[in-house]
Order: sequence, then C-alpha cells, then structure tokens
Amino acid sequence: MHVEWSKGLETGHLEIDRDHQGIVDIINRLDGLLDHGNTAEIGEILCTLTEYVIVHFGREEQLMLRTRYPRYDAHMLCHCQFFANLTRFTYAFETNARGLSRDIQEYLADWLIEHEASEDKHFVTYLNDHDAGLSGAGSPTLL
Ligand SMILES: [Fe+2]
Ligand SMILES: [Fe+2]
Repeated sequence: MHVEWSKGLETGHLEIDRDHQGIVDIINRLDGLLDHGNTAEIGEILCTLTEYVIVHFGREEQLMLRTRYPRYDAHMLCHCQFFANLTRFTYAFETNARGLSRDIQEYLADWLIEHEASEDKHFVTYLNDHDAGLSGAGSPTLL
C-alpha cells in the first residue's frame, strides 16, 4: 500500500509533520520492497522504521509531558501497542518465522495514517493552545 502525503495528513506542527513525512517515506520504501526486495533490504527498512518511531514517539511524548497533555496516558498506550506489534513483526521476520506480507505493511501504513490524522492532530491542536509560553524552552531531548 503506497501512501500519498497530502495536506490531510498535516498536523501543522513543523517537527511532527517532518517526522510523519519521514515515516511515510519509510512505509513507501517498504511497500516498494514487498514484491522484489531481498531479506536484507526488508530487514534494514524494518530497523530504520523502528529507530524512527522510537525518536518520533519520544518527541511527541516529551511535548505532551511538557504541556501536561491530559490524554498523555491514552496516547502513549497507542504508541506502545503499535511499537509492540512492530517489534513482533520484526522479530518474526528476523527469525524466519514469517515473511513480511502485504497485510503487515498495510497494517503499519493504516495505523500510522489513522493515528496521525486523529490522535496526533488532536494533540497538536492542544499543543498550539498550551505551548506558547514554553516555546522558548528549546527542542525536547531525543531518546
Ligand atoms: Fe506522530
Ligand atoms: Fe502519536
């Protein structure tokens, strides 16, 4: 499943949107490898996606903590569940228990699009209202 980046996916937050575009690029690279990619290439992309979402989820969660986002727990739980599934798929792939199917790539793409368009947009709306006085505090520390 190829994902087309569009205005509808933008949250309006520069760093978060930049991260999301990066995630969409990785998901699309994975899509391109499904039919013809070799194991090493697919494994490398799964590793890149894992590293990318760790940094990205950490960035969002630190912004949530800094602004005392009331839905922090629920949002973090979404991140944890996605990360657990990504880890499970990657482990199954790396141990040859299971290949990377189109279903899995579509799950990753669907989850990320849905999450970005709902939970992340909701958070950025809150952030815009609550971060004004804190914007001079600098970028959050990455994991
Ligand atoms: Fe996000
Ligand atoms: Fe998020």
